[in-house]
Amino acid sequence: MKLFRNFSHEWIEKNPWLLIALVTLVVSVGGAVEIVPLFFQRSTTEPVAGLERYSPLRLAGRDIYVREGCYACHSQMVRPFRAETERYGHYSVAGEFVFDRPFQWGSKRTGPDLARVGARYSDEWHRTHLRNPRDMVPESNMPGYPWLAQTKLAPQDIVPRLRALQRLGDGYTDAEIAAAPAALAEKTEEDALVAYLQGLGTLIKSRN
Ligand code: HEC
Repeated sequence: MKLFRNFSHEWIEKNPWLLIALVTLVVSVGGAVEIVPLFFQRSTTEPVAGLERYSPLRLAGRDIYVREGCYACHSQMVRPFRAETERYGHYSVAGEFVFDRPFQWGSKRTGPDLARVGARYSDEWHRTHLRNPRDMVPESNMPGYPWLAQTKLAPQDIVPRLRALQRLGDGYTDAEIAAAPAALAEKTEEDALVAYLQGLGTLIKSRN
């Protein structure tokens, strides 16, 4: 105890530089201990069973999701609480997001979480809802995105995106990348966004 009395908090708190140095040390060690193991843990780095890389169409849809700022109102992470799992289904696990760069977890929920929305509605439901949400949910305050149905994708744009993911180790082959623009020909932005939404969270059973 004597040691503590001599080396008291008051003394540290009155020496701002020492305080800064000690705080930095504690935060770095604490941060490293929490974060570094995640890079090596199987449960956080291994894809869940059946998880596949984004198809060109779903990848294009994901970019539209980001471009339109859907994340400003929708999170994509079901937390492990009963209130959440009862409403949305199984809580999210890290292995579902290994191909998400960047992930869309978020925390703002003006609208419902979308982590498990895939296969919950038909494609037609999504199309009508995206054009004018009030047609499906009268009290909705989600904005409509009617132009997505009228805008064709630019198929060649997908090539550099796939190349970037290839460089990051996502395993797309050169042949897959060369064939990708053809898969997007004549598709609209709405087609891509719906494909993206329909694949969200479907690998883990969505209702308990
Ligand atoms: C201003 C906030 C806001 C924005 C931006 C927004 N939404 Fe929504 N969204 C909502 C609200 C509120 C609801 C709940 C009412 C409804 O279903 O329309 C909702 C519902 C949904 C649903 C149905 C979810 C369910 O489980 O029933 C989907 C799918 C959806 N939004 C997709 C999108 C997509 C894709 C975008 C971007 C193109 C987007 N939202 C942008 C507020 C928003």
